[in-house]
Parts: sequence; structure tokens; C-alpha cells
Amino acid sequence: MDEQREVLGISRWTTGGFSTAGSLRPGYRRDVDRLLPDPAPADDADPVAAYLDDARPAPPGRPWVVVGMVASVDGATAVDGRSGGLGGPGDRRVFRALRGVADMILVGAGTVRAEGYRSPRTPDDDVVARRLAEGRAPRPRLVVVSGSLDLDPEAPLFAERPDEDPPPVVATVASAPPERRAALEPVAELVACGPNRVDLTGLLAVLDDVGAGVVLCEGGPDLNHQLLAAGLVDEVCLTISPRLVGGVGGAGRSLLAGDSLPIPARLRLDRVLAEDGFLFCRYLVS
Ligand SMILES: NC(=O)c1ccc[n+]([C@@H]2O[C@H](COP(=O)([O-])OP(=O)(O)OC[C@H]3O[C@@H](n4cnc5c(N)ncnc54)[C@H](OP(=O)(O)O)[C@@H]3O)[C@@H](O)[C@H]2O)c1
Repeated sequence: MDEQREVLGISRWTTGGFSTAGSLRPGYRRDVDRLLPDPAPADDADPVAAYLDDARPAPPGRPWVVVGMVASVDGATAVDGRSGGLGGPGDRRVFRALRGVADMILVGAGTVRAEGYRSPRTPDDDVVARRLAEGRAPRPRLVVVSGSLDLDPEAPLFAERPDEDPPPVVATVASAPPERRAALEPVAELVACGPNRVDLTGLLAVLDDVGAGVVLCEGGPDLNHQLLAAGLVDEVCLTISPRLVGGVGGAGRSLLAGDSLPIPARLRLDRVLAEDGFLFCRYLVS
């Protein structure tokens, strides 16, 4: 049965009869502890639902930007070149919850190639209903950042999207190879945002113009670094996976790839959930 109980001052939810507030979401089965802030309100049956309720007010001229990533305890963001070896069921739920709040998913072409990106799946029914009631699309739209346009137009990301969805956006540069541009034009909306590098401030202004209120950046470390360095990140949702991987600085890159930031970004820890050894940390950039 579901129950909420206090364990060492930690609010804990388990499956089975925890009642009624109606916020226990389909597929929610495992134990989740909320470590911070504490105590949790008694009617907050599914802490992951908190991601959907968080306030994300867009700053002037651009959307609110969330960076969502998973990393090992030693800071690696990939095992054998992919993030999958770091995740778990709770992480996948947080990943879906974050996609549920996003109007656009911003992702670097390196991640698209490494992870074999596909069209975003439809969120749970309650999330879709909420998005539609807010006048938003049922699913977030992908925005891929690529200077080289080294992207396969026949990849599932382009070839298998639902008919009713707009094509993914590919943010690129004026100097991109014309033949690759021509190959992608039938399956993507290409936006040139700079001569040789995508100007991320300009790109976010474009996304703001088309009504995006929340942009979720799913990495990778190269793109994250540029966004942080340009002061364009409002929130960092980091899953700390109970793994030690090694190789950070080499093959297993950390959250940010690049030189030290001129001024380190300061983060305020807003919430920590725990499940099965994983920590789900929400930070706000202050
Ligand atoms: N743990 C996690 O949560 C997580 C999340 C995401 C990724 N990852 C891992 O991170 C790795 C990939 O990350 P990454 O840092 O190598 O790549 P990335 O940040 O995903 O992508 C870098 C690429 O994006 C394009 N790009 C980025 N900024 C640009 C700009 N301003 N102008 C033009 N193009 C720009 C370039 O693509 P072109 O080369 O096409 O020009 C560049 O090579 C993979 O191993 C992946 O598994 C882990």
C-alpha cells in the first residue's frame, strides 16, 4: 500500500495506498525521498511532479533555459561515449518530466550523433492535457545546433517524426556546406544564426520570438559550456549517478567542456530528491 512516513527526518513515498491528492502519476512505482526542502507537503504524492510545477519565468528577450544532465559521482557524463550507462528508472522519469515542461529541446549535434536522437515522445496524458490547456504544443520541438550540418537526413530524428509535428529546427551558420544544407532542407527548418559559429544569444532570441517560454538544453558539454559562459542558463537539473567512471578530462567529459569560466557560475540548491542511490538536484543560477 502507498504510504508516506518519516524516516530519519526524510519524507518518503512508497507505492501502494498513498492517497488521493491525485498527483500519483501513472507508472510511478519506486521509493523517492525528498531530502530538500523538508518536510514535504503531505499532498505532494509524487515528488517528480514537482518538476512540472516549478516556476520558470522567462527573462526579458529570451526563454528560461534549463540544462538537464546526468553525471557520475566523479563528474563523467558518458560511459563508452553515451550517457545511457549512467541512468536509471528515476533518472528517466526526471528526464521525461523536464521534457514535459519544455517548449523546445536544445541539443548539440555531437550529442545527436552520439546518442542517436529521435523525435521527442508524447508525454503522459496528464502532461499533454496541461500543455494543451496552456496553449502549448503537446510535445517539445527539437533544436539541433550544428555548424558542419554533418547530420543524416534519413536518421529517425528527421525521417520518423509524427506527421502533425513541425520539423526539427537545425540552427546553423552561413558558412555551412551548401550540399548538406540542401540535403537537410526538406526534413528540417534551417536557421542561420551567425557566419561561422551559432550565436546562442541570437538563437534564443529567435526561439523567444516564436513563443518558446522554456528551453531545455540536453547538452552536451560543449554546448553547455557556451551557454554558461554567455550567462544564458537559469536552472541546472543534475542527476548524480552512483557510479565512478574515470576519464573525466579525456573521453568521459564533465558537464562543461572548455576553458575555466572567467567567473564561476553560482548556483543555489533548490531541491534534492533521492532514489535508489541516485540524487536528483535542482539548482537555480543566481
Ligand atoms: N550525461 C548526459 O546527460 C549527457 C547529455 C548530453 C550528451 N552527453 C554526452 O556528451 C557527448 C557529446 O557532447 P559534446 O560536448 O561532444 O557535443 P555537443 O555539445 O552535444 O555538440 C557539439 C557540437 O554541436 C555543434 N555546436 C555546438 N555549439 C556550436 C556553435 N556555437 N556553433 C556551431 N555549432 C555548434 C557542433 O556541431 P558540428 O560538429 O555538427 O558543427 C559541435 O561539434 C556524448 O558522449 C554524449 O553521450 C551526455
